[in-house]
Amino acid sequence: MAARKKAPKEDVAATEVLDPHALEAEDRLDRALRPTSLDEYVGQRVHVDNLKVFVQAARGRGEPLDHVLLSGPPGLGKTTLAHILAHEMGVNLHTTSGPAIEHKGTLAALVTRLSPNDVLFIDEIHRLNAVVEENLYPAMEDFKIDVVTGEGAYAQSLTLPVQPFTVVGATTRTGLLTSPLLSRFGHVIRLDFYGIEELAAIVRRSAGLLSIDVDEPGAIAIAERARGTPRIANRLLRNVRDFAQVLGRGVVDRAIAVSTCERLGIDGLGLDPMDRKLLRTIVDVYDGGPVGVEALAATLAEPRDTLEDVYEPFLLQRGLLSRTPRGRMITRKGYEHLGMEPPRKGGPIQGSLL
Ligand SMILES: Nc1ncnc2c1ncn2[C@@H]1O[C@H](COP(=O)(O)OP(=O)(O)OP(=O)(O)O)[C@@H](O)[C@H]1O
Ligand SMILES: [Mg+2]
Repeated sequence: MAARKKAPKEDVAATEVLDPHALEAEDRLDRALRPTSLDEYVGQRVHVDNLKVFVQAARGRGEPLDHVLLSGPPGLGKTTLAHILAHEMGVNLHTTSGPAIEHKGTLAALVTRLSPNDVLFIDEIHRLNAVVEENLYPAMEDFKIDVVTGEGAYAQSLTLPVQPFTVVGATTRTGLLTSPLLSRFGHVIRLDFYGIEELAAIVRRSAGLLSIDVDEPGAIAIAERARGTPRIANRLLRNVRDFAQVLGRGVVDRAIAVSTCERLGIDGLGLDPMDRKLLRTIVDVYDGGPVGVEALAATLAEPRDTLEDVYEPFLLQRGLLSRTPRGRMITRKGYEHLGMEPPRKGGPIQGSLL
């Protein structure tokens, strides 16, 4: 997963709060707040309802769940869902990641250790190397794996059976998977950004678990600024709690939620200084676009992956940015959000007002 580069000094606070990747030391909290059943998993109703049926059917037949691919921007609940699926199937979860499976031997050691119907969770599955990926195909399809024993002239290839199992793969972008790998997943689930009501439900649930006093308008205010992302909603909740404790009356209400976000540079749509810088750069440097992602990444001094995985999905979803065959363009809504006049069709492009 792309590491998010540090923004200039004054932007750091907001950039960290809104970074959808887990921050250091956040893993423990992520785990504490993680729902453990499909019923507790908020939102993504269509997928959750379908998964309930698939789990029940597989359990009824005593078979593993068909392989599941989970894709979506960071912090939307892929790892959470992998844990839940193993739990609902009543099997063990074994966790690894694409880059961690360095050789085909590592893969063989992993899959030969599985008990029947176990879940092998492969995070960042788009980063598997080609040799390992090719060895994964027969394991997924026929539950067998080739291993090599001995060395040099004594090397021998054996095919070992493995227990029937489920691969749950997670990726930030389905487009990065090869089509032979993609075709081996029976269920391909694309997680969407969460709605305000769903995020507010997550905030209320987390507040309960962390014994934080939050009122309804406070939960909504946090939800509105969480970039459609549960991890960010939970993080904002903890930040607002601190402000409520030190500067307010201890209760997370709308006023303290809004003022905390303002102090952190997070606006009413949940955009941080970097998001706004991205939009402004398209206007100021590229006359509103279209601009290729490489050029934009170079101007912003951010890795291309970070732009594509972290910033763009939400800006696109909100209709502030559009992707055309010739590159990225700011939309009318994008101009309006920056407080700028959109250029009239065919007329001169309006310069930056900010
Ligand atoms: N549907 C949900 N309901 C309640 N909480 C959720 C939901 N989805 C995610 N969360 C919360 O958000 C946090 C982040 O989720 P998770 O770690 O599963 O994201 P992810 O998609 O795996 O992110 P990454 O791509 O960075 O690995 C979890 O701690 C969990 O508490
Ligand atoms: Mg994860």
